Amino acid sequence: MSLAAENEAIPCTIIGSGRVAASLAGAVRLYGIPDFRLDAVYARNSARAARIAPAGVQSGEVQDLETLSGIIFIAVSDDAIPDLAASLAKLPAEPGCLCCHLSGAVGLSGMLALQQKGVDVASFHPLQSFPEQADADCFNNIFISILASGEAPALSRLAEQFGSQAVMVTEAQKQKLHLSAVFASNYLVSLLRLAEQASKDIDADVLQMLRPLINTTLDNVYQTGTGAALTGPVSRGDAGTVKSHLHLIQSDQKLTQAYRVLGCVALERAQSSGRLNHEQIKALQKLLYL
Ligand SMILES: NC(=O)c1ccc[n+]([C@@H]2O[C@H](COP(=O)([O-])OP(=O)(O)OC[C@H]3O[C@@H](n4cnc5c(N)ncnc54)[C@H](OP(=O)(O)O)[C@@H]3O)[C@@H](O)[C@H]2O)c1
Repeated sequence: MSLAAENEAIPCTIIGSGRVAASLAGAVRLYGIPDFRLDAVYARNSARAARIAPAGVQSGEVQDLETLSGIIFIAVSDDAIPDLAASLAKLPAEPGCLCCHLSGAVGLSGMLALQQKGVDVASFHPLQSFPEQADADCFNNIFISILASGEAPALSRLAEQFGSQAVMVTEAQKQKLHLSAVFASNYLVSLLRLAEQASKDIDADVLQMLRPLINTTLDNVYQTGTGAALTGPVSRGDAGTVKSHLHLIQSDQKLTQAYRVLGCVALERAQSSGRLNHEQIKALQKLLYL
């Protein structure tokens, strides 16, 4: 069943008024996309929905939505998805409509009520970090993982029309991809917070000073892979330096634990790249293993 008559743009509705909803509303409008048309934005708070609805696009409260048609994007907090899906399942649904959330963590079972009603469901997870005031560009030139109960070719087409790449995933792959995204994005920020804390006594903007180092490291990872990009005391087998670092942070349990865990990961990577001899590995293991 198609989502719209031939040659007609697919009507899209967004539920939510947060970062992702705002960016998506802008993207569907901005990229001009001949195949898709944003009809409405609904949210718990109609004023917030109105703020992100582009000119000419209807807005209101979630309760104002009367019929499920085209693509309904559910861009709300993860925990709110099942209840919202259950209330949407009480509405009449036009043939071929598709309800789609944007969460990386929630699977399709989060929309069980809709599935039980016979509505097609999917997730359209942008591998992106959306800041406050996220704009349409956040959907451009990224990867978007798609998990769907049916084939959902419209979602792949939408990703392409955003200038992004769709990746079809299974439920298990989606969960793992989200886990990787948490390490790569959220915990990268945590790591930089640790870097800030490690030199909190220095009266300087340490994060700025580290910026070229961070950028070069990321470039190296993408040019040569994590093995060759690893530099520093662990990769050289400098146990003495590691020992003095641990001494420096001995009164800070959190920094010490993080240093050891990350040091173990670095040690495994250096070891698998064949860069350390047996004695170096033993000396580092003695310092880093808990
Ligand atoms: N932020 C990211 O970097 C990112 C990246 C990829 C995917 N996602 C996914 O995108 C989705 C939205 O995330 P976000 O970052 O846009 O969140 P957000 O900025 O915190 O916004 C959350 C939205 O959910 C609404 N909401 C919460 N509980 C609700 C309920 N019970 N009923 C109706 N609406 C409710 C909020 O409404 P109020 O304004 O009324 O509170 C708000 O509009 C999530 O599934 C998230 O996992 C986020």
